[in-house]
Amino acid sequence: MSELTATVHSTTNGFKVTGNEEINYAFQFVDNIFDPAHTNLAEIYKKWTRVLLVTDSNVNELYSAKWNAYFAHHDIKVTTFVMNGGEKNKTMTTMLSIVDAMNAFGIIRKEPVLVVGGGLCTDVTGYACASYRRTTNFIRVPTTLIGLIDAAVSIKVGINHGALKNRLGAYHAPLITFLDFNMLKTLPEGQVRNGFAELMKITSCADKYSWDLLVKHGPALIKSRFGRLEESDAELKKAADEITYRGIKVMLDLESPNLHEIRLDRVIAFGHSLSPTLELAPTIPLRHGHAINVDMAFFVTLACSRGILSVERRDEYHALSYAVGLSMDHELFTPELIQEGTEAILKTRDGKQRFAVPTKAYGECVFLNDVSYDEFNTVLGAHKKLMHEKYGGGAGKEAYVDYGDLGMDPALLLQQGVQKVKDIVSPLINGKGHHSPSRTKQTSRLVEPIQA
Ligand SMILES: NC(=O)c1ccc[n+]([C@@H]2O[C@H](COP(=O)([O-])OP(=O)(O)OC[C@H]3O[C@@H](n4cnc5c(N)ncnc54)[C@H](O)[C@@H]3O)[C@@H](O)[C@H]2O)c1
Ligand SMILES: [Zn+2]
Repeated sequence: MSELTATVHSTTNGFKVTGNEEINYAFQFVDNIFDPAHTNLAEIYKKWTRVLLVTDSNVNELYSAKWNAYFAHHDIKVTTFVMNGGEKNKTMTTMLSIVDAMNAFGIIRKEPVLVVGGGLCTDVTGYACASYRRTTNFIRVPTTLIGLIDAAVSIKVGINHGALKNRLGAYHAPLITFLDFNMLKTLPEGQVRNGFAELMKITSCADKYSWDLLVKHGPALIKSRFGRLEESDAELKKAADEITYRGIKVMLDLESPNLHEIRLDRVIAFGHSLSPTLELAPTIPLRHGHAINVDMAFFVTLACSRGILSVERRDEYHALSYAVGLSMDHELFTPELIQEGTEAILKTRDGKQRFAVPTKAYGECVFLNDVSYDEFNTVLGAHKKLMHEKYGGGAGKEAYVDYGDLGMDPALLLQQGVQKVKDIVSPLINGKGHHSPSRTKQTSRLVEPIQA
């Protein structure tokens, strides 16, 4: 939630308004938030005696019985709006359907919408709330690992537009976010792995203590849903809770001084330089965690070749990725894609590369601004060789999006892809074609080294 106050000054030929935005939002860890014994949500909603709850269809199926019983117990009438999940549905149409639900419900000033779901659902609902009457309160209960340690930590909300991810959005802080890690009990392993990659990012660059815990417990953390499955042992749960608590704290410490992302040297950009281009390159997109880990594993190899990381530390990163089944290379991760990705990222980073890479024995990071395409290509050759020699080629487990991530059957994309390939190839065969420059072979050239 934010408050804007400003004062007016007269100038020689007009006025100037100067003000500050005060922002207040909290996070509370509550296991089993819908246990009737926990009054956190009931305390907030009892004054309205009702709640508009937005969720996606999977989460609705898994948890609606729990929240219905919870609100019934507290005499609060719940109205649920169920959106379809998946990136295909992260659209203006879905956002407007939530706006319509708010209208139909007759949400009144200050009454907060409750969103229960993964990062996608909290992003779209948050954007609907940012737009509705210019600003409407909301409360988040994230249900995925990405939601808990990443999406719901930030105040960014938004939707995709056309082929552009998160192109429309806003900065809109919720009143409060309730963090219930028991939601992970039902989360498929592939989704936990996605979140694990984000934790590798943040810890390798900013929290050595947690990095070491990830190295120690990697595969067990994923299998046990971060210690939340019943059979998990106490040490594992303790380690998982420490990692997630510290991960959220580090993210808040790093990002809070820069909530509107004005400063562009951002630690959390590690893994997010070339991956946006790679993620969408295959006909069936890579899962986010796999795309960012290819990016990170490659930059770790690069950091080692520059002497920023030792061989031992490089191998530690790669061995952990391998153990938890995260991708470290892809056949479409080529010199051409690296060039395409670098050019795209220079546009969003004000002309500088700002490649974050971990340094020392992890826990700190440096920014590189002088990587040439010749260096990229040499390191790429070495990286692919290393992947083949030690890590079975560097392919991860369940690396591609599924129905849940996409909101449609990925096989349909393959069918459409075949059609697209035909569309491109047949005119070329006829000699009158035009094909996209983005995937053509390009000779290596230097990215202008820019001083930090
Ligand atoms: N706002 C931000 O700063 C920020 C940061 C990171 C990611 N994001 C956004 O978040 C989205 C990805 O979030 P995500 O990884 O949470 O994906 P998601 O919300 O699409 O959820 C992934 C899948 O898991 C299902 N699911 C959710 N909770 C579940 C549970 N407890 N048990 C079983 N299944 C469950 C969902 O229905 C979906 O099928 C992307 O759109 C991304 O752009 C935003
Ligand atoms: Zn990410």
